[in-house]
Amino acid sequence: MPFPSSFIAELKSRNPIETVISRYVDLKRAGSNLVGLCPFHSERTPSFTVFSDNFHCFGCSAGGDVITFIMKIENLEYRDAIQFLADKCGMAVPAQDYKDYGKPKSALTREKCFEMNKIAARVFYSNLNSPDGEPARRYLDERKISPATRIHFGLGYALNSFDHLTDILISKGFTPQEINENFLCGISKKNGKPFDMFRNRIIFPIIDVSGNIVAFGGRVLDDSKPKYLNSSDTVVFKKSRNLFALNFAKNVITGDKPDEKNLTKSYAKPGEMILCEGYMDVISMHQAGFGNAVATLGTAITSEHARIISRFAKTVYLAYDSDDAGQAATKRAIRMLTEVGIDAKVIKISGAKDPDEYIKKFGSASFANIISASEGQIDYKLNEILGKYDMNVSEQKYKAMTEACGIIADIRTDLKREIYVERLSQLTGIKQETIYSEIKRTVRNENKKFKHQFSELLPKNIMRYDDRINTEAASNYNAAAVERRIIGILLLYPELLNSKIKISEDDFVTTFNKNVFSNIKKIYETGETDITQLNEVYTPDEFSYIMEMKFERMPLSSNGEDALKEQSELLKKLKADASDKDETDLLSVIEKIKKEKLKKQQ
Ligand code: CTP
Ligand code: MN
Repeated sequence: MPFPSSFIAELKSRNPIETVISRYVDLKRAGSNLVGLCPFHSERTPSFTVFSDNFHCFGCSAGGDVITFIMKIENLEYRDAIQFLADKCGMAVPAQDYKDYGKPKSALTREKCFEMNKIAARVFYSNLNSPDGEPARRYLDERKISPATRIHFGLGYALNSFDHLTDILISKGFTPQEINENFLCGISKKNGKPFDMFRNRIIFPIIDVSGNIVAFGGRVLDDSKPKYLNSSDTVVFKKSRNLFALNFAKNVITGDKPDEKNLTKSYAKPGEMILCEGYMDVISMHQAGFGNAVATLGTAITSEHARIISRFAKTVYLAYDSDDAGQAATKRAIRMLTEVGIDAKVIKISGAKDPDEYIKKFGSASFANIISASEGQIDYKLNEILGKYDMNVSEQKYKAMTEACGIIADIRTDLKREIYVERLSQLTGIKQETIYSEIKRTVRNENKKFKHQFSELLPKNIMRYDDRINTEAASNYNAAAVERRIIGILLLYPELLNSKIKISEDDFVTTFNKNVFSNIKKIYETGETDITQLNEVYTPDEFSYIMEMKFERMPLSSNGEDALKEQSELLKKLKADASDKDETDLLSVIEKIKKEKLKKQQ
């Protein structure tokens, strides 16, 4: 029985893969990835790579997510690896026969959830404006949230009561189980009675881009703990995917519709988004004329968030808290956003803890100024490197220069590159020519390494006749290769499984790939897109092998619906074609690869 996906998501967000792996491997930055010497085979040049939420070794093909990593390195079973990570961050592991999960599919439909949330939001809203809402109103007054802003965000108040909302929902025909599944009530372990989940809290409704209320966040009015309570993942809400206020911000960013309710001057520019940590930051910013601000919901940014953001914005300003945790989150966000082609910039907030405090202290015009003065990610990284080393010690200065040149080597346009070479030269006193030649050397090395990795990796994949995991690949290599592509595409873009293209288990030729497909499909059908629970079903080697299918597709540009269509048609043909096991064809493929290799070496 799988663990609740909300538990796994939280476990993963509290154990960022780069932090966990850093305890075992000395990771260095290489472009947008982190690389190091692989702990699973012996090597002298690093081919072990960490990117998004995964690792992969180009040398030995080990790969997977943070759970696979712990399973492999600590030699643990899936459940023990989960326990290991939970212990590290002080989380309790749900009992194995966890009752809320493992049910085939929730009986609660999306429509019913939306309906329930709408009713709840109305109750919270009217509480805020009732006599009982006085302390909450006072709190919002103190925090300078105007009445117009309260209405705009639909803010509310959960009464200090154990049954107020639950009773109303039951009277409207929802069962305690349904209310519980939607995170609006808990069920008492003692007497089995339902009780309100949100009590004595300011309520922030979370609305998806289609305008449905999908979840709630609640803040205490004083210093009690936990400061914020958020809905867990439900049928309609996934923390790893939803962003607070994206429903408002998307219109501001795309310029579709000016935010007419916002009467203050708008500072938002088309194509630009501000990403921050908290509800109150977003609300403050919107109120101050920055209607393009959104926040992740009590979790670190995920690759899914990044992908969603990239649908709306080209540039993202990061406005995380100025503390250490905020800075670590900034680095992670830069990496995630860069991977999806977003230009990430960092807003330097000084003299205040977060955007909300800053705006209150210094005003919106001043906030607009620090936005336009914000550092591009390259400046941010260069300053970080130069700050880390003592530039008066030659050895350290050398290290700093090597790292800095590595950053500049990643820049693709000449003009931009020249600007940063000039800047680095000014900052360090090293001649521009010298920096250029170091950059050239880095680029040459990186290219060589990349070509090497892929020329090694690709033929190995095409010639799956030595495949130890999918043993049927040898005799069905065409079909197996196509199956790998299909699974790879679906791992990259889970939403394609529900597209017009129909593909089923029956189309698959090899048993291993067929099972992989069917397991992935089962997971996606629950609304989950993280396949980590397959770590329980497959060995780490098998899981690595599955993840490799995704990594193979990653550097390719054609991974969309068309590619999937093409490959699934091909697979259907191959399945029909019994002569898939043609030896001569295999030999010709090997010949071709050999020739290409020779050409490259010349
Ligand atoms: N958060 C959470 N659970 C907590 C604490 C924080 O989910 N126990 C999330 C919330 O989304 C919160 C964000 O992390 O908005 C940032 O937390 P923090 O910086 O502590 O709070 P602020 O946003 O500054 O909130 P406030 O200004 O109301 O204190
Ligand atoms: Mn704050």
